[in-house]
Formats: sequence, structure tokens, C-alpha cells
Amino acid sequence: MRNFTLAINVLLKSHLAEQLASYQGFKKLQVMGKKKTATILFIGDVVGKPGVQIVSHLLKGLRTKHSVDLVICNGENTHNGKGMNKEALHQLREAGVDVFTGGNHTWNNFNFFETLKTDPSVIRPLNYPRGVYGKGLGIFSMGEGLGDIGIINLQGRTFMSSIDCPFRTADWAIKQMKDKVTCIFVDMHAEATAEKIALGWYLDGKVSAVLGTHTHVQTADERILPKGTGYCSDVGMTGPFESVIGMQIKAATDRFLYQTPHKYECAENDVHLSAVLLTLDTETGKTTGISRVFYPDFNRGEALTSEK
Ligand code: FE2
Repeated sequence: MRNFTLAINVLLKSHLAEQLASYQGFKKLQVMGKKKTATILFIGDVVGKPGVQIVSHLLKGLRTKHSVDLVICNGENTHNGKGMNKEALHQLREAGVDVFTGGNHTWNNFNFFETLKTDPSVIRPLNYPRGVYGKGLGIFSMGEGLGDIGIINLQGRTFMSSIDCPFRTADWAIKQMKDKVTCIFVDMHAEATAEKIALGWYLDGKVSAVLGTHTHVQTADERILPKGTGYCSDVGMTGPFESVIGMQIKAATDRFLYQTPHKYECAENDVHLSAVLLTLDTETGKTTGISRVFYPDFNRGEALTSEK
């Protein structure tokens, strides 16, 4: 935890608001005029206690700084890297998370099944077989005067379980919601970048945003597609980066070296928060601004830049 503690101390000493304001990613966010806009923050896969802790430290500052109306968080890795648990859910909710999405690990912690069945703020991929615990979509308030947003959680099939088609499932879900909401957000939890990009194009103009999760590596392709859908292939991981996608390095490396199972444990050090900020026009349901968030930044040394 040493690097995590160090990062938090640095933040506190140097005034959180100033640090975040100067962060390059935020400068790109364009808020359009005085129209009714809603600001959504989507936090990428939160891994274990280190991930929960950094959200607890940073989220209130982020909410205030960017006047965030709704916080959505992928929580499928909060239970020591696989699954969710009630304690993490409580801590993240206290920190300011409003809605939780999931993925292939949502069901790893059997003790969470009851919450999955009963808590309206927790959703899991919709395209699993009928009868699986939980629900895959929901309608949530974005705040006073902003109306509601539909949230759909989908999972890809490439290099993953052979579940129902996420494309056709999305069509069905949009049909259920289109008379009730203007804004629709999709968390596409998938391994293959191509499958996520294809879904982005397929849903362009039909939903407000398609943001990817699962790979734990943030992609630099955030953009607004031609018909107004905000898109990013992967929002990235919120958790320990002295790791292999959140897990301790030795066990992960041994799996590749020996091609045998090795017990995964959540890593602890070098903790970062990954997210995407969206501004939505609540009258049209289109994305008007999209920006990646990654904090604190990696040490990149004296990298060459185009300005030099
Ligand atoms: Fe996943």
C-alpha cells in the first residue's frame, strides 16, 4: 500500500481541486452552452480494497469540481478482485456512487446473491440466460430537472462465455426504454476491442454512450460518434497498477510461465483511478462532451511530445 498512501498524501498536500483542475484530461471536456446538460462520471473496474479506497478519497472532490449529476461504477472486481461484496458496495455508495454495473465476475461471491436480487442500484450483464440472479438494466434519476437515464449492462462473447447476442439484446432493451427515457447509457463489458467498437457503431444515435469495461486498460479512443453517441473502448481500471490487471504479479506471471492455475490475490500498490466524464444533452439524449480521467498520472519520465 506504500505507493497508494504516498499518492493520497501528495493529493492532500497539494490541494485536490488544483491538482484535478490542471489534469490534462479535464481540459478537453466541452460543455455546450446553457442547454440542459447532465454530467455523468463512469468509474472503470474498481479492483479490491485499494480500488475502493481511492474512490473514497477522490470521488467527492471530482463530484464537486465537475458538478457531476450521476456516478456509475463498474464494481465486479471489488471483492478481492472477483465479484462484489456488501462492504465495498456500502463504502462506494458513501463515497458518492449512485449505480453499479457488473460483468463476468459479478456472481463470484455467493454471499452477494441476495443483494444482487434485491438492490435496485446494482445491475449485471443483461444478456445472460433467463433465471440468472439480478437484472441487466434500470432507469435512474439524473437529478432534479434532468430527468431519468436508462442504464444497460451488456457483456461481449469474443473470448468470453457464449451468452446471448449483446447487439440484439441491446435492441430489445432500447425498445423497452425508448418511451420512458431520452438518455441511455451502456456499459459494454467485453474482452475484444473490435466487438466493443462494433457495438459503438451499431448503437450510434440509438443511445447516449457506449463505454467499455473489463480489460482494465484505459484506451485513448474516447470520441463522439457521428450520430451523437459517446464512445470509449475501455474506461480502464481503478485499482493497483503494480500488478497484472489488478492481481499480484507472481501468480499472474506463473500462470503464463507454467500454463497451470495459480491462486490469484489482489495487489496493493500504485493505485490509480480510471474513469470517463460525459456531458449529455438531456433534450436530445446525445453526448456533447467526453473526457478520460486517469489519476494520478503514470511516471513517464522525459517523454517526447509534439510540442517539443
Ligand atoms: Fe470482467
